[in-house]
Amino acid sequence: MRVFELFAGIGGCAVALGPGHSLVAAVDQDEAAARAYAHLHGHPVVRHNLHHAKARWFEKFEADFWWMSPPCQPYTIRGHQRDLDDRRAQAFQRVVAAIDALQPRAIGLENVPWFQDSRSEALIFEVLARRGYDVHTELLCPTALGVPAQRRRYYLVASRDGLTEAARPRPEPVRWQDWLAPFDPSLEVPVELAQRYDGALHVIDADDPEAESVCFTGAYGRSPVHAGSYLRQDGRLRWFSPVEIARSLGFAEDFALPEGLGREKAYKLVGNSLSVFAVRHVLGRIPGI
Ligand SMILES: C[S@@+](CC[C@H](N)C(=O)[O-])C[C@H]1O[C@@H](n2cnc3c(N)ncnc32)[C@H](O)[C@@H]1O
Repeated sequence: MRVFELFAGIGGCAVALGPGHSLVAAVDQDEAAARAYAHLHGHPVVRHNLHHAKARWFEKFEADFWWMSPPCQPYTIRGHQRDLDDRRAQAFQRVVAAIDALQPRAIGLENVPWFQDSRSEALIFEVLARRGYDVHTELLCPTALGVPAQRRRYYLVASRDGLTEAARPRPEPVRWQDWLAPFDPSLEVPVELAQRYDGALHVIDADDPEAESVCFTGAYGRSPVHAGSYLRQDGRLRWFSPVEIARSLGFAEDFALPEGLGREKAYKLVGNSLSVFAVRHVLGRIPGI
């Protein structure tokens, strides 16, 4: 399969597919994402704003599997759930129009659970049904696969060659303890912040083999609450590092972002990425993947 990774970010889909797949293009408009992607995968990113992209722009890549993680803000409560009326859903509509025109062999999509039953979902359903695709959707959290890192997401896979019943292989057992680095004082949470949000922070213990984190978002490190878990390690409270979060998503042990990116940007990139464990599982339904 010739793979197209649209809205590529740091390339969670590339990791889920593994070596042996022919990535024809990773597309993202963001400079930091493009830099991180190239650093991680040794593959350049096509920096392009898909907001105005026409079918013939997509056509030249001759991709047969199109993966996309379009922006989630049009579907979130914080983003006011404006769905197709949100400007940030325009690029998604462009991709759907290109699918309609070019009919690639297979499609995969990841988004927040609120994408389900949205007008955007209805739009892509209509095109896929009219063009004869088999479609499967599901809401999946990696915890259902034994991965102790919550990230419930909506997944859609579609294929013109039919879909298979996923064999549902579970990843090797993993624990938070496998992903942790030693205590880093630069990640320590100031006492005042810990006191101010006492009781509102989700804290896991480094010594707890059963520890399960809540979902890390792109706001981790900036928003004190509802953006991810904290770690109690050696009796002190700290933030998780971007590398630890990436490992919990299924990125490699030696995951590293480019020098000089800055921690805030690093949290944003990993917090916007995806669970490689869950995507690998869902892609198992597409023949030839
Ligand atoms: C939810 S993130 C996808 C993350 C990705 N799945 C990963 O594994 O890191 C959405 C990405 O879409 C990109 N993006 C948003 N709007 C775009 C547009 N109009 N054109 C191209 N890329 C866009 C953002 O820069 C961001 O990296």
